[in-house]
Amino acid sequence: MGHSAAVWDSRAAIEITKDWNGIEKVVLRNPQGASARVSLHGGQVTSWRNEQGEELLFTSSKAIFKPPKAVRGGIPICFPQFGNCGSLEQHGFARNKIWTIDENSPPLSLKDSQGKSFIDLLFKPSEEDLKCWPHSFEFRLRVSLAADGSLNLISRVRNVNGKPFSFSFAYHTYLSVSDISEVRIEGLETLDYLDNLCGKERFTEQGDAITFESEVDRVYLSAPNVVAVLDHERKRTYVIRKEGLPDVVVWNPWEKKSKAMADFGDDEYKQMLCVDGAAIAKPVTLKPGEEWTGRLELSAVPSTFCSENLDLQGRGF
Ligand code: BG6
Repeated sequence: MGHSAAVWDSRAAIEITKDWNGIEKVVLRNPQGASARVSLHGGQVTSWRNEQGEELLFTSSKAIFKPPKAVRGGIPICFPQFGNCGSLEQHGFARNKIWTIDENSPPLSLKDSQGKSFIDLLFKPSEEDLKCWPHSFEFRLRVSLAADGSLNLISRVRNVNGKPFSFSFAYHTYLSVSDISEVRIEGLETLDYLDNLCGKERFTEQGDAITFESEVDRVYLSAPNVVAVLDHERKRTYVIRKEGLPDVVVWNPWEKKSKAMADFGDDEYKQMLCVDGAAIAKPVTLKPGEEWTGRLELSAVPSTFCSENLDLQGRGF
């Protein structure tokens, strides 16, 4: 591309094709060669690559690409619940349903569109969904890829019901890492967390960055809007910025649980780490006509750039 007045046509940067189940998938590209792929099955991002073509999200080699179950990897959307309580299925039904492309999405601000290639998706509950969760809503998801290769997800949930409802939510983000024992998370030190491995008991994190030597399944409460995942071996840092998402889930199944999951390789826990921007501890409540927005921005930068340059306590977006 010329360096002068070349204008990037974001429409040309979107390709819509079908996967082998006949479900549409959308590939977004930026002028530098980065890309992202999102499936209409669950509105799930299934790939995010940098300019060098390196995959940044983990997908299991044992993943099952057959609806209704969500694919093991990428970024499944957990809605209207995170986890497994009550009669709803684990992590809610949104990730298992077929979404549509939203041609008439209500506009977002200019900064959410300019210089980005993006796609707007929509999920509305079916009769069957309403039987398990009797609340009418419209869930709009914008997935966009910026000129610098960062991936942005904007979820908007609107209550189109006559009554208030509450939900919990997570962008269940499977990051690809070189080796879990070489990874640390910065930004969650000293926070309180609910430990799913101890019946959701509340603990307080110590002062050090989080490292991994066994199974972890936690919800960190009221986390800062910027969290960094440093992959020492690959010299890569993932910077996670969030807005409207107070909590951060950290999950690695480790050895035993990996073996128990049919769609996950026995040793694959070494190559992934889930770090999710989420709203779990205090469910979101929407009155009729109200809308909630939850934003996530993921970027991958060389580790030398971090962590002094990251303002972990500071701005989200
Ligand atoms: C995590 C949960 O975030 O997701 C775990 O805290 C769960 O308990 C994991 O095992 C994966 O869930 P699923 O439904 O995709 O297998």
